Amino acid sequence: MCGIVGYIGNNDAKEILLRGLEKLEYRGYDSAGIAVISENGVQLFKEKGRIASLREVVDPNVECTCGIGHTRWATHGPPSKTNAHPHQSSSARFTLVHNGVIENYESLKREYLQGVQLVSETDTEIIVHLVELFMKEELSVEAAFRKTLSLLKGSYATALLDNEDSDRIYVGKNKSPLLVGLGDGVNVVASDALAMLQVTDRFVELMDEEIVIVTRDSVTIKTLDGIVIHREPYIAELDASDIEKGTYPHYMLKEIDEQPLVVRNIISKYQDDNGNVVLEEDIREAMKAADRIYIIAAGTSYHAGLVGKQLIEKLANKPVETHIASEFLYNMPLVSENPLFIFISQSGETADSRGVLVNVKKKGYKALTITNVPGSTLSREADYTLHTFAGPEIAVASTKAYTAQMAILALLAVDTAKNSGIEFDFDPIQELSIVATAMETLCDQKEAFEKIAREYLTVTRNCFFIGRSADYYVCLEGALKLKEISYIQAEGFAGGELKHGTIALIEEGTPVIALATHEHVNLSIRGNVKEVAARGAYPCIISMEGLHEESDRFVIPAVHEYLTPLVSVIPLQLIAYYAALHRGCDVDKPRNLAKSVTVE
Ligand code: F6R
Repeated sequence: MCGIVGYIGNNDAKEILLRGLEKLEYRGYDSAGIAVISENGVQLFKEKGRIASLREVVDPNVECTCGIGHTRWATHGPPSKTNAHPHQSSSARFTLVHNGVIENYESLKREYLQGVQLVSETDTEIIVHLVELFMKEELSVEAAFRKTLSLLKGSYATALLDNEDSDRIYVGKNKSPLLVGLGDGVNVVASDALAMLQVTDRFVELMDEEIVIVTRDSVTIKTLDGIVIHREPYIAELDASDIEKGTYPHYMLKEIDEQPLVVRNIISKYQDDNGNVVLEEDIREAMKAADRIYIIAAGTSYHAGLVGKQLIEKLANKPVETHIASEFLYNMPLVSENPLFIFISQSGETADSRGVLVNVKKKGYKALTITNVPGSTLSREADYTLHTFAGPEIAVASTKAYTAQMAILALLAVDTAKNSGIEFDFDPIQELSIVATAMETLCDQKEAFEKIAREYLTVTRNCFFIGRSADYYVCLEGALKLKEISYIQAEGFAGGELKHGTIALIEEGTPVIALATHEHVNLSIRGNVKEVAARGAYPCIISMEGLHEESDRFVIPAVHEYLTPLVSVIPLQLIAYYAALHRGCDVDKPRNLAKSVTVE
C-alpha cells in the first residue's frame, strides 16, 4: 500500500526511482509519480495506472541526480493523475510524497490554509502547503517541515524536495514504514528495503516522529524538536534474486512452489543438533507464564491464527482466542490476568494489528510478533519476534507466508507443551518433513488443479468451500484466495452451518469444494456434500489418503492430523490461481488490493 522512494547521488535519479517503484509494485497501487531536480528546477511526472505508463511520460532527456517517487493506493480521492503524488506547494517551491492518512487534514485546512487553492482531493496536499506557509515565518526549511509534521495527526511517511536546494531530501515518519539507505556518496529513501537493494543493502530504521535530512554524504536523524539522534545501520539480509520471478509467469505460482522449501527452512532454523525445537528462552518463559493467549491478525494471517489456536490448545493445553485485528478494540474481551498477545503478520506493518499492539503495550501486556519481516514495525514494537523465514512474498495473495505462519505456530505449541511438562506423541520436526514432501507432491500435480479450475470456475459467479474442524479454517482461506484474485464471489463455511441459511443460495451447477482431511468429521462433511448435491450443487471433494472414496476428485498425501492445513491449502491456492488465469485476471496484482495494508 503506497510506496515511497528517494534518491540523492551521482547517477540518473529518474531511472533509479522508476526501478525502485517497480520493486514496490507488489504492495498494491493505482497511480504513480516521480519528481526530480534538474537544471531547470523540479520536474514532475505523474500517471494513473501502472509504472509502465509512468515510464512512458517521463522525459528521458532530463538530467537529474536527486528525486523522490511514489506509488499511491487511493484513500482520499479516486485514482487520477491529479490525485497522484508528488504534490506541490502553490509556488511550486516544495514537492512532496506521502504514505499514510492525515486524520486532521480538514481542520488543518480550515485553520491554516483558507486562502490556498488546493488542486487535489488528497489529505496529503495540505502538508506541502503548510511547509510553504511556515516558511513565511522566516523558518528554515527544516524547521518549517518539523513544525508541519508536529501538527499532523495520523500516519505518515513523507519525503520533501526544495526547488532551491538540489542537495537535500527531507524525510519524516510516523506510524508508516520508512527506511533510509546508506551508500558511498549516495543515499536513498524507501518504504521497503527491496526497492533500493539496487543501490545498497545498508539501511537505518526510522522511529515514529523522527525526521531525516538526507544529502549525498550524510544522513541526519532528528526528533520533531530538532534533537539529533544517532542510530547504527543494519544490513538487509535480502537477496535481490529472491524478488525476481525467474522462469515463473507469476510470483504467486513461484511462491506456492516455494512452500516445501520454506517448511524445510523453518525446520533447520528452529532445530538444534539433537533434533529438538529451539526457541528463545524469553519466548518460552512468556508462553509458559501466560494464562491465556490472544492471537491478533488480519486476513490470511487471521486464518493461520485460527489453526494456531487449535494447535496451542491441543498440544499445550493453554486457552487461546483468535481475533480479527480491526474488530478487537471495539469488541475487546475481558482479558485474563496474565495474557500473552501474539500478532501474526506477514508484512509486520498492518495498521489494524499495530493499533491493537499499541493499545496492548499501553496496558503493560507482553506481545510476540510472528512475521516474515523481522525489522518491521510489529516486530520492533513487540517484546519478542518469531521470524517465519519465508523469503520476500511479492504476490499480493499470501501463500507461503500463511503456511510458514502455521509451521511456526506448530513449533511454538510443541515447545510450550514440552516446557510445561505436557506429554504428547508428536515429533514436529519429523511431521513437518513429511508435510514438506507432501507439499512437493501437490505442487507437482498442477494439471489436476488447473483442470478443476477450468471445469468448475471458468463461468460461475460464485463458489462455496465447506469443511469441518481445521478443514473449515482452510476453507476460509481457500475462499479468500479465490475471491481476491479471480473476483468470484466465494465463501468458506463450516459444513454444518450451510443448512442454517446459506444453502438457499445453492442452485443447479453451483460449485461446492469440500475438504475431507479429518477422520472424526469425514462422515459428516460427506453428509453435507450430499445435502448440497441433492439441491443441484456441483461438488468437488478433496480428501486425504486413508479417508478417501472413489468419487473424490483429488486425494492429498496423508500427513499428521495437526498439520493438514499446511497441505490441504495448496490445492485451494492452485485452484484459485488457475481460476484467475482462466478469467484473464492480473494474478499478482489484483484490483483494489494492497500487499501491506498500512491504513486502518
Ligand atoms: C490475503 C492477504 C491479506 C493479508 C492481510 C494481513 O492474501 O494477503 O489478507 O493476510 O492483509 O496482512 P499481514 O499478514 O501482512 O498483516
